[in-house]
Amino acid sequence: MTLPVLVRTREELAAALAERPVATGAGHGRGVVMTMGALHSGHLSLVTRARELADQVLVTIFVNPLQFGADEDLDTYPRDLERDLALLAGVGADIVFAPTLDVVFPDGEPVVRVSAGSLGEVLEGVTRPGHLDGALTIVLKLMHLTRPDVSVFGQKDAQQVMAVQRMVRDLDVPVSIVAAPTVRDDDGLALSSRNAYLSPTERERALVLFRALAAGKRVALDGEDGDAVRAAARAVLAGVGPDVELDYLALIDPRTAVEVPADHHGPVVLAVAARIGATRLIDNVPLRLGERAGVSA
Ligand code: PAF
Repeated sequence: MTLPVLVRTREELAAALAERPVATGAGHGRGVVMTMGALHSGHLSLVTRARELADQVLVTIFVNPLQFGADEDLDTYPRDLERDLALLAGVGADIVFAPTLDVVFPDGEPVVRVSAGSLGEVLEGVTRPGHLDGALTIVLKLMHLTRPDVSVFGQKDAQQVMAVQRMVRDLDVPVSIVAAPTVRDDDGLALSSRNAYLSPTERERALVLFRALAAGKRVALDGEDGDAVRAAARAVLAGVGPDVELDYLALIDPRTAVEVPADHHGPVVLAVAARIGATRLIDNVPLRLGERAGVSA
């Protein structure tokens, strides 16, 4: 198993890219997967998808302080570069760019940042103000540094995918954005680096998020309307104990992140966020409303 080439500085990155030119055109080029490390099978599935779409796969590992709130887990966020590199070797990543803070921000905190606008003010933006602005700012910087033809993001962070897609359209960033499906444990729990914080009891309780989404999905598949989908998911969430604190359950338009009316037809995302003990988890499922068997591809 060959380890990917590890580059830590801008100069090393530029040299690695210059030494490994890629062809252009469909199925060619460079695929980039951006991560904050602490990799799990969900991240690896993004790399596998990038491999299908491009000749060369570059993975970035950077715990981005701009997207953490003051009371969040920036300092304790799990970091294990050696383990991450071994995992990435197993899925054929070619290059890993793992810069330090001063490499990414040589001038200190950025003065000019990207704004997610209205997309960043709802759902995650209510509990985590500025989170999406911070994520988009680093995503755009990493795009400039790594120059992807295609970049793969996990559907698990649905609002982030929406905002990245909108950013590349609004700012004419020359990259295709691909959303890859959420990877789940056998019992349905969506993989997340933050699952590592859950005790066995909390992990069991966290399954309520998946059960709520599954209930909403069943109702959508039966061709029922948006209110019925919301009600089915809420009914499951109503049964949780005091150690599960619901943040939001929302049925949103994937272009605007705004709640859809009951009679909406077409693609929607049923999204949920909750605090399980001290750990905040998010999950979602893409659906179609107004059609029987209405689950998105
Ligand atoms: O999804 C993530 O892990 C992060 O938000 C990203 C895209 C790597 C930006 O820091």
